[in-house]
Order: sequence, then structure tokens, then C-alpha cells
Amino acid sequence: MGQPMEILRDLPAFTAWRRALPSSARVGFVPTMGNLHEGHLALVTAAQSASDRVVVSIFVNPLQFTDAADLARYPRTETADLAALAAAGVDAVFLPSVDGLFPDSRPSVGIAPGSLAEPWEGAARPGHFAGMATIVAKLFHLVVPTVAVFGQKDFQQLRIVQAMVRDLDFPVEILAEPTHRAADGLALSSRNRFLSPAERDRAPLLQQQLRRTAAQLRAGELAEPVRIEPVLIESVLSEARQSLRAAGFEVDYFALCDVDTLLPTVQIERAVLLAAARLGAVRLLDNLLL
Ligand code: PAF
Repeated sequence: MGQPMEILRDLPAFTAWRRALPSSARVGFVPTMGNLHEGHLALVTAAQSASDRVVVSIFVNPLQFTDAADLARYPRTETADLAALAAAGVDAVFLPSVDGLFPDSRPSVGIAPGSLAEPWEGAARPGHFAGMATIVAKLFHLVVPTVAVFGQKDFQQLRIVQAMVRDLDFPVEILAEPTHRAADGLALSSRNRFLSPAERDRAPLLQQQLRRTAAQLRAGELAEPVRIEPVLIESVLSEARQSLRAAGFEVDYFALCDVDTLLPTVQIERAVLLAAARLGAVRLLDNLLL
């Protein structure tokens, strides 16, 4: 039987716990905003396989919300989250308050996430990625992880964190964990709970459409180089957007992008399909690596 899970809310208590770990300990870190589901627990399992001690943070980060109502209604389920993390064998949970992390309510210095943060989610939610990268940088300084695990579901977030770590030489390895899905293919997300039963039935169509589009793009692929005509790509993507609209989705974007730059591409080698579409009040995100 291991040690009981530490629940640390204030910063000095957390840093004291962290400093008391042996310097040889490999520390795995999973940053979260709580309302944990199987997808988060899979990140914990990945962290456990890559380290000796696992820290999970739960912090609903106000810096990355562009809408106060969205921040207010973000689901907070601390008791259930702590029970799930204890059952998963996590070593410590860090649950700072906003005041504890930012005594002046907001930091005056932050991370500028650069061009990767401009398109797609960055265009839909200006400032979101700067707020996300700033809190992740701060948590990395406090947790001092050997490895940190991020889900591929938030593909643009993952790419920005990888770029931040590379460009600013954070001494941490980033592990990318494949998206966890419900049995019908819907990517797990804390926001799925806001889908009505009818919307929940329709939601897996987003993933099905990504698969169909990927198959169409692959079928149009030429042997050498792996490049298909831009006009073919545009017609396949536009057909995908139309079928989602016909199924009741409001499509924000459905695009074929280069995995490194996240800009639209006509090469399907090293490409990812990125999609965001709204069903009622819920914005669903998903992606598929080609
Ligand atoms: O993906 C999330 O839950 C958040 O963006 C993160 C990485 C915990 C930063 O607040």
C-alpha cells in the first residue's frame, strides 16, 4: 500500500512537498481544470508509466477564458475528482486558488505563444492560448516535472506547449496521449455534459466525418510526392462542412493543416484534420492525424 494522496492547496505547502522529494525522483505531471473523466485518468496512467511520482493540478484558469459566463459555468466537481485521483494512485494533487497563484489577480508578465496560437482556436478565442501557456509555464516552474502529459484532443494546445518547451528550454519532456473516446467515437470532454440527449446522439458524427474525409483524402493521394490537388482538397473539405451543417452542426472550421505550422496544407504527409463545430451551446473539438 502506497502513501496516502497529498492534497495541497497553498503554494508554500506544495513547494515544500515538492522540495522534499529525492532529487533523483522522476516526477510526472498532469495539469487539469478538474471535472475529470476517463480521458484525464488515461493521462495519469501515462504519467505513472513514465515517472516515480505523479502530481495532478486542478485549477480552472481564468486567464484562458475569454468569456466570463463560460468561466462561471465551467463544471467544478472537486470531491469526485479527488476520489478518482486517489483511486488512481496519484501521489499529490495541487489545487491552488486564483489569489494563491496571482495575488494581484492577474500576472503582469506572460507567455506570448506566437504564430501557432493565431489560427483556429486562437482566432475563435483571442487570448486563450496566451492564458493557457502562461499558467502551464507557471505550473512547470512550481511542479518541476520530469515529464508532463497532454491529450491530443486539444491538438493546438499540445503543439503550443511543445513549442514553448522547445523554444524556452523548459527541462521537461512532453508526452502526447491519444484522444480517449466514448464507445460511439465522441471525444471525451468536460463540456459534453452540456449536450442535450438529442445533441449527444448526433455528436459522434464529427469524428465519423473526420474519418470519412481522411479516407477521401487518402484515396485521392498520389504516389509521389504525397500531395493532392488543392482543388480536390477544398472540395472534400467543403463537402465535409456541408454534411455537418446538414446534420445540425454550426461549423467553425474543418481544415487540413500541417502538423508543425498548423497552417492549411495540400500535403497529406504530416497533416492533421482539425475541426471545431457547435451543437447547440456546446463547441466540440476533434482532430485526426493523417
Ligand atoms: O487542457 C486543459 O485542461 C488546460 O488548458 C490546462 C492545460 C490544464 C491549462 O489550464
